[in-house]
Amino acid sequence: MIRIAVLVSGRGSNLQAIINSIENKYLKAQISIVISDISDAYALERARAHGIKAVHVDPGKFASKELYEIEVLKNLNSENIDLVLLAGYMKILGKTLLTAYKDRILNIHPALLPAFPGLHAQEQAFRHGVKVSGCTVHFVDEELDGGPIILQKCVEVTDDDTVQTLADRILEQEHKIYPEAVKLFVENKLIIEGRKVKFKT
Ligand code: GAR
Repeated sequence: MIRIAVLVSGRGSNLQAIINSIENKYLKAQISIVISDISDAYALERARAHGIKAVHVDPGKFASKELYEIEVLKNLNSENIDLVLLAGYMKILGKTLLTAYKDRILNIHPALLPAFPGLHAQEQAFRHGVKVSGCTVHFVDEELDGGPIILQKCVEVTDDDTVQTLADRILEQEHKIYPEAVKLFVENKLIIEGRKVKFKT
């Protein structure tokens, strides 16, 4: 059984979607640990409510990003983690984690990458006046929100949308495509060829 770690910073609705997919047997994997850089992230409570080990690693306690990530890595190693999921984790990954988990870290982003990387992607897209936005699950590499794309889902923007209504509809799709992408990884169906991710049949 593949052992997953989920890194979070906030409310954890994507974490919840993964937990639900495991509990309803859509995903055959186990979440062994949830790690947050924020002490009162609601995601930690969600994890504990499902009997999942939930840990706060405080970046403020470490002199550098490298030392902080070494501590995160210790937690991952002690749980024999195979796959790391970023789910609303708001820190940019450094070399330590990227090297240790090369091609084994996924992220969900609330826009159609490569458009609108970085923070507040839904708001960036809305303010830009796009007619279509959406969400993306991708492998994480050294480029911010730039790794090979696994799945994307479009969401149309209507005239009555606000940033909030658009973000809500994008989030609904996030909760669908993140478990789907994780399932493809868990079933060893993903092949990375340069920038492209192909699916084994
Ligand atoms: C989600 O919309 C996720 O796509 C986004 O943060 C939100 C976390 O919500 N991630 C990023 O913007 C990463 N650049 P959640 O904590 O409820 O899953």
